[in-house]
Amino acid sequence: MGKLSIRDLDLKAKRLLMRVDFNVPQDNTGKITDDIRIRASLPTIKYALEKGVSKLILMSHLGRPKGVDEKLRLNPIAQRLAELLGEKVLKLDDCVGSKISQQIKEADEKVILLENLRFHKEEEANDVNFSSQLAKLGDLFVNDAFGTAHRAHASTEGITHYLKSAAGFLLDKEIKYLGEALARPVKPFAVILGGAKVSDKIAVIENLLPKAQMILIAGGMAYTFLKAKGVKIGKSILDAERLDFAKDILKRAAEAGKKIILPIDHVAALSLDKPQTARAIDNVNIPDDLIALDIGPASIGVFKKELKNAKTIIWNGPLGVSEVEAFSKGTKEIMEFITTLKATTILGGGDTAAAASKFGVSEKITHISTGGGASLEYMEGKILPGIVALSDK
Ligand code: 3PG
Repeated sequence: MGKLSIRDLDLKAKRLLMRVDFNVPQDNTGKITDDIRIRASLPTIKYALEKGVSKLILMSHLGRPKGVDEKLRLNPIAQRLAELLGEKVLKLDDCVGSKISQQIKEADEKVILLENLRFHKEEEANDVNFSSQLAKLGDLFVNDAFGTAHRAHASTEGITHYLKSAAGFLLDKEIKYLGEALARPVKPFAVILGGAKVSDKIAVIENLLPKAQMILIAGGMAYTFLKAKGVKIGKSILDAERLDFAKDILKRAAEAGKKIILPIDHVAALSLDKPQTARAIDNVNIPDDLIALDIGPASIGVFKKELKNAKTIIWNGPLGVSEVEAFSKGTKEIMEFITTLKATTILGGGDTAAAASKFGVSEKITHISTGGGASLEYMEGKILPGIVALSDK
C-alpha cells in the first residue's frame, strides 16, 4: 500500500504543518553556502499555497545543538526562503507553546517558519508530549524532509500519531528515483563508492553486492581494499579493523562473478595540506612516504571502460579529495563521463552533490538526492521511519 501524498489532501483553509530539511551549510558568519535543500522544497511549498492553505507552518532542524544556540537560529533561512519564494515569511523564536500558537493565529503572513526544533531535546527523543504540542499547531501534516527521514524524531515520526500525514513532492521524488533504482535497477547496474571511511559503506556494500553487476571503489576507503589485496598503500588511509571485511567482500564478489573495481594508479602527495607535492604514481603500489588522494589517469580509463555500458549508476562519495583542485580530477572526469551515458544516474551524499555542483554537471544527472545519511540508509535497504510513519492511502 502506498503512502498518502500531499495531492491526496484537501488543503483549502487548513493549517498545514510541514517538516522540511533546511539543515543547510553555513560559513562562520552564518551565510548560507548552499541552499539546494531550501530550493528542493519549493514545489511542495508553492503547491500548498496555491491550494489555499490558511497557514503554512514550516519546521526544521539546523545542526546538532544541545539546547538553544544563537548561531543555529533559523533567521537566515527564513530570509533566504522569502527571497526564493517572493513572499513574506514570519520567523518565530520557538516552535511550541501558547505564545507560538497565538502568534500563528494572529500572523498576517501565510508562511511561518518555526525555530530550530533541536533547541528542545524532546525533538530527538521523539517525546510524546512534544510531538502532540507540535501537532496542535496544524490540521494536517506533510513531510518533505527526505534528508531527515532516517531519524525517528518528534517532527518526523512522533507527530504522525496525531495528524493525517502525507509525503511532499520532494520526499515522493526521492523515493521514486532511489527506490526504483534500488528495487528494479536496469542492468548493468554499477555502484560507485568513495569517501574516506569503509565503515560508512559496509551495509551499502552488503546490500548492493547481490544486486549490482559491479562496485567501483575509490576515495580513502579504496586503500583498505587495496591493502587487503596485498598492495603497498604508503601513508594512505587504512581502516585496519575493516581489513577482514574487505578481504571477505573481495572473495565473495569473485565467487559470485561480481566485479569490484579498484584504482590501479594514483595521484599522491606528502600530505593533504601539501597539494604542491602532488604527483602521479604510475603503479598500483604507493611509495612509503606518500598518501594517495585521488585516482590516477589509468584508473580513470578503467572506470570509464567499466561504466560505459551501465544502465543504472548509483554513486555515493567522491573518488578523491575533490574539494582540493590537485586531487579533484578523478571525480570530475568520471562525473562528466557518466552524464554522457544513456543511463539512469543517481548521486547521494553531501560531498558528492557538492562535487556535481562544483563541476557544473548537476543538471545532467538524473537525480541528486538531498539526503546524506538518509540516502545511505536507503541504499543499505533500511526502512526509513519518517516515511513508514506516514498515513497509508
Ligand atoms: C543531514 O544533514 O543528513 C540531515 O539533515 C540529518 O541531520 P542529522 O544527521 O544531524 O540528523
